Amino acid sequence: MRRGAVIQLAVFAAIAAAICLAVAFAIPWLPESASKQADRIHFVYWFTTGIAIAVFSAVASVITYSVWKFRARPDDDSDGPPIHGHTKLEIWWTAIPAVLVTAISIVSAIVLAQNSHAGADPLKIGVLGRQFAWQFTYPNGQKVGYLELPLGRPVKLDITSDDVIHSFWVPQFSQKQDAVPGAHNPLVITPTKLGTFPVICTELCGLGHSLMRSYAKVVPPAQYAAWIKSVGKPVKQSAGEAAFGQFGCNSCHTLSAANATGTIGPDLDKLKQYATQAHRGSLTAFIKESIVNPGVYIQPGYQDQMPHTFGTQIPAGQLTQLVQYLAQNAK
Ligand code: CUA
Repeated sequence: MRRGAVIQLAVFAAIAAAICLAVAFAIPWLPESASKQADRIHFVYWFTTGIAIAVFSAVASVITYSVWKFRARPDDDSDGPPIHGHTKLEIWWTAIPAVLVTAISIVSAIVLAQNSHAGADPLKIGVLGRQFAWQFTYPNGQKVGYLELPLGRPVKLDITSDDVIHSFWVPQFSQKQDAVPGAHNPLVITPTKLGTFPVICTELCGLGHSLMRSYAKVVPPAQYAAWIKSVGKPVKQSAGEAAFGQFGCNSCHTLSAANATGTIGPDLDKLKQYATQAHRGSLTAFIKESIVNPGVYIQPGYQDQMPHTFGTQIPAGQLTQLVQYLAQNAK
């Protein structure tokens, strides 16, 4: 190949790469970053994508250029020239990808190490996934259904599950971590933006999977300090109502007294009517059986979807309070 052709090819490849990069950067592929860890992950993403675009442009340019410049004439029936390989070229096209792939792995390893480093004094919050709700346990022992985080302080989540495998994901924090029964998986987040971001379960975990959502609220440190004090105070909520929220009943059931609007399980506002149809003893006996042994009687129109684990999960005292609460609020 002549020198002129190589230069022409290089210019061609550079223009193609510039167009691809401009298109890539013009489209907002990634959610806005709201944490230091997300910034680093976005850097790895663009580092890798930039390399991919450069390689793609070079290869596609060589192919296009060859098809254009070296195509056979329609009346040319002769054999092509016998070629025995090109050692120098082969060394280059092996060495360059090896260097690029190694560079990607080094950058990724550094980012992984930095992202799992929580510093000396992280805020530790327990995360429990269960069908189909998230529960967050703060350092003062308070259990809350959403994540409240102070801006700028590293937070170390300790993620686990009560039943099946779930996965914790906040798109703006760019990281996912599985919630596995019996395992405690860590995740470090250092929020850099104030705001409210969705917490999403990103592992198919049952019928209510798509509804297994909460939110992460990032607030100034002073506001967090005030919040964590106030959340420790007893709320004007009956023990039964608290249990209703704590065990995630609201994610699947409707109950107007608790402002719950779930539609996966039977409408608990209609419990009296259901109990009459079911002939399973008194209203409270029926409710208790439906929580502890949900498979025994299935309300027509619904499926056997309720976890069969509440009998062992809910302590006896709380179970009684929950049954009383439901019985009182049934219409
Ligand atoms: Cu929990 Cu999907």
